[in-house]
Amino acid sequence: MSYYDQVKDAADAIRSRIPEVPQVGVVLGSGLGDFASSLDAPVTMPYGELPYWPASRVVGHEGKLVVGKTRGRTIAALAGRSHLYEGRDVRAVTFAVRALGLLGVRTLILTNAAGGVNTGFSRGALMVIDDHINLMGSNPLVGENDERFGARFPDMTEVYSSRLRGIADRQGTAIALPLPHGIYAGVLGPSYETPAEIRYLRTIGADAVGMSTVPEAIAARHMRMDVLGISCITNMAAGVLPQPLDHAEVMETARRIRGQFTALLEGIIGQL
Ligand code: HPA
Repeated sequence: MSYYDQVKDAADAIRSRIPEVPQVGVVLGSGLGDFASSLDAPVTMPYGELPYWPASRVVGHEGKLVVGKTRGRTIAALAGRSHLYEGRDVRAVTFAVRALGLLGVRTLILTNAAGGVNTGFSRGALMVIDDHINLMGSNPLVGENDERFGARFPDMTEVYSSRLRGIADRQGTAIALPLPHGIYAGVLGPSYETPAEIRYLRTIGADAVGMSTVPEAIAARHMRMDVLGISCITNMAAGVLPQPLDHAEVMETARRIRGQFTALLEGIIGQL
C-alpha cells in the first residue's frame, strides 16, 4: 500500500469518529501536551487506535490525537510526535501532519521545546518562529514525490505565515506576554549540542535550537497548509550558562509556562 493510501486511511479513520472536520491542527511539544486536555467536547484517539500511525515513545509525549473545541473552533491537537532521533523514517515523522492535511486542516500550529541560542532570551520565554534552518541531515520530501500531496520542488520562501505571525503578535500584546521572534535551527539529536556547535548556530543566525518541527513544517508547506511555529525556550543552549543540560529541566520549564502557553494559543485560535 502506498504511503499516500496509508495516510488517507488514517485520515478517513479520524473523520469517521468526529462530528466536524477541524480547521486548525496543533502539534504540542514536550511538556506542552496539556493543551489537548483543555479542549471542550473532546474525542480522544490514542495513536494506537489509528491505522498506520507511528507511536511516540518519548517521556513527556503522550501519544494521542484529541479533536475538540476551543473559542468556537474545532481543533485537532496532537499530544506526542515522532522524532527523527528515534530512528524513524522521515515519512513516519511527518505522518501525523500529512493525515491532518488530508483530513482538511488548513492551518497548522507547530510548537516545541527549544534551547535558547540567542543570549537575549531567558528560560521560559516563548518565541515566534520566523524561519528555520534545516540541519537535520534529511528532508521529509526525499524519495519519490506523490503529486497528490504536492509539488516536487515546493517553495520555502515563507514557511511560517507572516499573517499568522502577526496574529500571534497581537495576542501576545493582548495578554501582555513578550513574544520575541527568531530563527529555529532543527538538529537531529538526541544528544544536546556542544558549546562549539551552539556558537556555530549563533553565527549562522539561529536564535533557538531543537530536534523537531522542521520536517513537519516542510511537509505542511508541501501540502500548502499555513504554518505558525512557537518555541518554548525551556533552557539556555549548551555553553550559555555554566551548567549541564538535562531533559528534566526541559520538562519542568514547559510545565511552568503552560498557563501562558495555553492563553496564547487560545487567543491565536480565537482570531483565526
Ligand atoms: N537543544 C536541542 N533541543 C532542545 C533543547 C536544546 O538545548 N532544549 C529543548 N530541546
